[in-house]
Amino acid sequence: MNQASTLQTMMDRADSKKRAQRSPKIGTPPRVICVSSGKGGVGKTNIVTNLAYCLAKQGQKVLILDADLNLANVDVLLGLTPRYNLHHVLLGEKSLTEILVNGPGGFKLLPASSGIMELASLTESQKLYFMTEMETVDDKVDIMLVDTGAGINDNVVYFNLAAQERIIVLTPEPTSLTDAYALIKVLSGRHDVKRFRILVNNADSEKEALAVFRKLSIVADRFLNTISLDLVGFIPFDRKLPKAVRSQKLVSELFPNADSSRMFKTLSTQMIAEKPEQHSDGNIKFFWQGLLDLS
Ligand SMILES: Nc1ncnc2c1ncn2[C@@H]1O[C@H](COP(=O)(O)OP(=O)(O)OP(=O)(O)O)[C@@H](O)[C@H]1O
Ligand SMILES: [Mg+2]
Repeated sequence: MNQASTLQTMMDRADSKKRAQRSPKIGTPPRVICVSSGKGGVGKTNIVTNLAYCLAKQGQKVLILDADLNLANVDVLLGLTPRYNLHHVLLGEKSLTEILVNGPGGFKLLPASSGIMELASLTESQKLYFMTEMETVDDKVDIMLVDTGAGINDNVVYFNLAAQERIIVLTPEPTSLTDAYALIKVLSGRHDVKRFRILVNNADSEKEALAVFRKLSIVADRFLNTISLDLVGFIPFDRKLPKAVRSQKLVSELFPNADSSRMFKTLSTQMIAEKPEQHSDGNIKFFWQGLLDLS
């Protein structure tokens, strides 16, 4: 297909979808929660997928955006093999709903590691088409969880700015604490992000998790006094978790009574009970709009 006819197909699809969506949206717009960390390997992907599983089991419509651009691994973790990804949507070859993959418990996965970088170079009409595609999922999602890569690169910053809520994951290791602090410092200092939620993974106990949170709060209060940090909770170090990973299953599914599984369930119940701030425009649309504007 040449470029002009690809664009025409995109615009035709966008038009017909717009017509189908004229009726006003009822209900609460989805929440978009970005999960990131300063240091790599602290458990983000396991946290995102297990929370998605538990939220879905409790009746929430959940979408995971795999936005780790270096090593997308949500699919590997789950033993899934997505055939298409966001790149195919941007080419106009697939619709967004066609690339979604079903995960355990009923959540959906949007494989996006290939394609996100292209957002920066879209023309105005391609952006319009893309936003219309995104609107098609808005109605079908209660919570979108964004799994980002490690470190403080432009993409991680973009996702954190575009999302409505941010969870920063850290472990009791000192390097993880200093790297989490560095990420918070960049987001608050250069981009004026004020609110961060903290999740401590691999903790031996609640006491240890609280001590880690307190250490982070003390440095944040001293050097970044305009931000607010909330402790979402903690996930205990649990040998059952890597055991489940080795069989490409979620610990929550394979060992529902394991310590970490119980905590994932508790945290997901807690998340459902929260009443976060909403964007009247629809949060997923707002999220992508944010990325397109930033890029
Ligand atoms: N609570 C836990 N108890 C025991 N092991 C854990 C726990 N959380 C994560 N792990 C182990 O830590 C490793 C890294 O986890 P994961 O891939 O989720 O981290 P990540 O932050 O997504 O990494 P990356 O930054 O590379 O994307 C995995 O091998 C996993 O089995
Ligand atoms: Mg990961």
